[in-house]
Amino acid sequence: MNNVQLNELKQRYVANGCASPATQFAERAENAEVWDADGKRFIDFAGGIAVLNIGHRHPKVVEAVKAQLDKVMHTCAVVMPYAPYVQLAEKLAMLTPINGSAGKVMLINSGAEAVENAVKIARAATGRSGVICFDGGYHGRTFMTLAMTGKVLPYKNDFGPMPGDVFRAPFPVPYHGVTEEQALRSLKMLFETDIPAHRTAAIVIEPVLGEGGFYIAPPGFLEALRQICDENGIMLVFDEVQSGFGRTGRLFACEHSGVRPDLMTMAKSLADGMPLSAVVGRADVMDASGPNSLGGTYSGSPVSCAAALAVIEVIEEEKILEKSRVLGDKLAKRFAVWQRSFDCVDNPRNLGAMAAFELVSDRAEHTPDADLATALCEKARDKGLILLSCGTYGNTIRMLMPVTIEDDVLDEGLVIIEQALRELLGGESAVTG
Ligand SMILES: Cc1ncc(COP(=O)(O)O)c(C=O)c1O
Repeated sequence: MNNVQLNELKQRYVANGCASPATQFAERAENAEVWDADGKRFIDFAGGIAVLNIGHRHPKVVEAVKAQLDKVMHTCAVVMPYAPYVQLAEKLAMLTPINGSAGKVMLINSGAEAVENAVKIARAATGRSGVICFDGGYHGRTFMTLAMTGKVLPYKNDFGPMPGDVFRAPFPVPYHGVTEEQALRSLKMLFETDIPAHRTAAIVIEPVLGEGGFYIAPPGFLEALRQICDENGIMLVFDEVQSGFGRTGRLFACEHSGVRPDLMTMAKSLADGMPLSAVVGRADVMDASGPNSLGGTYSGSPVSCAAALAVIEVIEEEKILEKSRVLGDKLAKRFAVWQRSFDCVDNPRNLGAMAAFELVSDRAEHTPDADLATALCEKARDKGLILLSCGTYGNTIRMLMPVTIEDDVLDEGLVIIEQALRELLGGESAVTG
């Protein structure tokens, strides 16, 4: 079936709320390239939203998945456990920087499920209910994670009252007027105005905001959160669903700051496209809830676990963390050229390959230009590049191409962005650097 025929099926049978506006259907993919149902090639700078740090269908992962399919596909881990679950648990416990005692692990299917479970575990461990999260944070689309998500549209608008005991503090983004000091003061004020520290179970933060705009939490801010949590018996939860598994040049973004959480959530690039997520945390905290209180039918599928075990090997064998840093440097250099060449490009930032810049209509005022960001992504798609925007103001362009992208494919994609920007700006600005 071609794109037109598939679109007819989509319009007729797929619910409006989950039907993508994209009209090209993926037919096959390899590393950083995707071909659609009409045979058109696309360069992939989205990586299925941060899922493909080691590229589409990494051969080692495909091989591991096929081998697991020939053994066992499902038993339900609580009915009859299987080796890949416990082997992956061991690896994740060893690899995840956790505060204090050795880590323990639970596996589930999606990022949202991981965050839901981290909150359940933090509540069980503390006997408290309050959860503090941050403006611009994105934690998923289940009700609890929606309540925690700090952006109304398009996520929350249609869905009525959210679960309670969720509070929000500002995330420090000096470029948009919130300093680290102000953010910290507002957080402390929450303890006076909304939820006392002794009723707070968890502070949940993304060390680098994902959907919220790729803003990097300053190390000093994370250290201050660690101190507040230690002083008040609160669980510090790092949501590394988007920033984890090699995106930032370390396995986890928090490693750049040296601050360790009590609980960490991870998903996305953990299993190179197979659905899998995890909560990793302090053993005493992870063990706080009763037998059979956590889990689900498909939690930690053997096939997904086999994929994740292969991903961990690939990250080591192919020096993915080093490659992520090199890619980040290349992107930063190119962004600096664009910032000099295009008045609308500003605030480039990156932690390894978690890289982004903003499109603004007035650089002096930092005025977000979400329309330009949308137009750029659309034009890029027409030219064969899959590109994503993000951010509270919808004006950030983020880079999520595989870290394994070939140099010539990367350059081709970056040139498409330059051409698209030039066309959108009516040829006023030219790239000169
Ligand atoms: C930081 C973060 N947490 C949680 C989620 C939710 O993950 P999922 O879409 O797999 O439920 C996302 C998804 O983008 C995310 O970026």
